[in-house]
Amino acid sequence: MNGPLTELSAANVRFGVLGTGRITRRIVAELQQSGATNVAAIGSRELVRGRWFADQFGIARALGSYQELIESPEIDAVYIALPPALHHEWAMRAVEQGKHVLCEKPLMVDAGEALELDTLASKQGVYWLDATGWLHHPRTKRMAEHLQSGRLGELRHVSTAVSFFEPFQTNDHRLVAELGGGCLLDLGWYAVGFVLWSQQQCLPTRVSALGQQRDGVWRRVTAMMEFANGVTATAHCAYDVATRKWMEIAGHEASIVCDDFTRPWVERPTRFWIHDRAGSVVSEAIAGQQEREMVIAFAEEIRGAQELSWLRRQAIQTQQLLAAITDALRTGQTVELPQEEKTASLPGNN
Ligand SMILES: NC(=O)c1ccc[n+]([C@@H]2O[C@H](COP(=O)([O-])OP(=O)(O)OC[C@H]3O[C@@H](n4cnc5c(N)ncnc54)[C@H](OP(=O)(O)O)[C@@H]3O)[C@@H](O)[C@H]2O)c1
Repeated sequence: MNGPLTELSAANVRFGVLGTGRITRRIVAELQQSGATNVAAIGSRELVRGRWFADQFGIARALGSYQELIESPEIDAVYIALPPALHHEWAMRAVEQGKHVLCEKPLMVDAGEALELDTLASKQGVYWLDATGWLHHPRTKRMAEHLQSGRLGELRHVSTAVSFFEPFQTNDHRLVAELGGGCLLDLGWYAVGFVLWSQQQCLPTRVSALGQQRDGVWRRVTAMMEFANGVTATAHCAYDVATRKWMEIAGHEASIVCDDFTRPWVERPTRFWIHDRAGSVVSEAIAGQQEREMVIAFAEEIRGAQELSWLRRQAIQTQQLLAAITDALRTGQTVELPQEEKTASLPGNN
């Protein structure tokens, strides 16, 4: 799907980072420690902030604008950690400069933008990936194996819930509509993405939704979906409910349950459970560092050692499904979706 590979030596992929926000710290640490990547420069709207960040995290170069960063010949790829409404502009500009793009979730604020990025990246012969860590956790691959094994019987229903409770930091972009705020894009990215993943990237045929908004921003949303194979699903996200990040995939024989699929709870084993219809429960613990796995996978793709097009399909479809849910919320109507021909293998198990 993408064009020719950038010629890179076996040396680390050199990243430039856009933004100095909260998530940046976690991913910069992974980029520095992965063994496949490093961070060559960071760009901030304010040079002084970029310098402070560079000093704190041992980054050689700080730049006082994102444009300077993406034009730098010292980097092969960018990591975009800006508010969602800025992802499209800076991903497109970086791709125009021939840089690969690792972009924070939600990838974009609408599906058209995601498709534009995909088209331009193909033309430029570079890769993009959304920074959705759970898709890279070895636990996800193990759950995919169970799904594929038929252990759950015929699938019937999928449920997900992702939330946290306020307070927000002052001026948090999550509460600003113009910056792409709201729980649907922010947390629905995970909840809806999981439903799609569980359905092997088939979009539902019908979507309806209920939600509550404040200041033009979704604070709580519940979406209901039905798939062509008869499976139903609910995806819930909220900014006014205690932290949850769980999912259940229920079949007629058994169900898989996981209470922290987006990111393992700190200092607890990374687990999931299988409950069968006789009432027995088994749990499996699968260690892994999802962000580390993610940056290594992306570096391998850039070097031509791995192919991640199923993840790009997952991101674009997540964006399409979020758009359909937004339509359902705005109109109060059930939205019918056209069916695509299915081409993907079971995600996470490729
Ligand atoms: N994958 C995950 O687990 C995860 C977790 C949290 C967040 N995220 C995602 O990462 C992205 C950033 O979230 P965050 O929580 O790190 O945000 P944040 O702390 O607010 O940082 C965003 C950064 O973007 C830059 N920026 C540029 N224009 C801005 C504007 N108009 N308003 C605010 N900041 C602006 C700022 O850097 P400079 O001023 O230095 O340029 C700022 O530090 C979001 O898309 C979010 O959904 C992902």
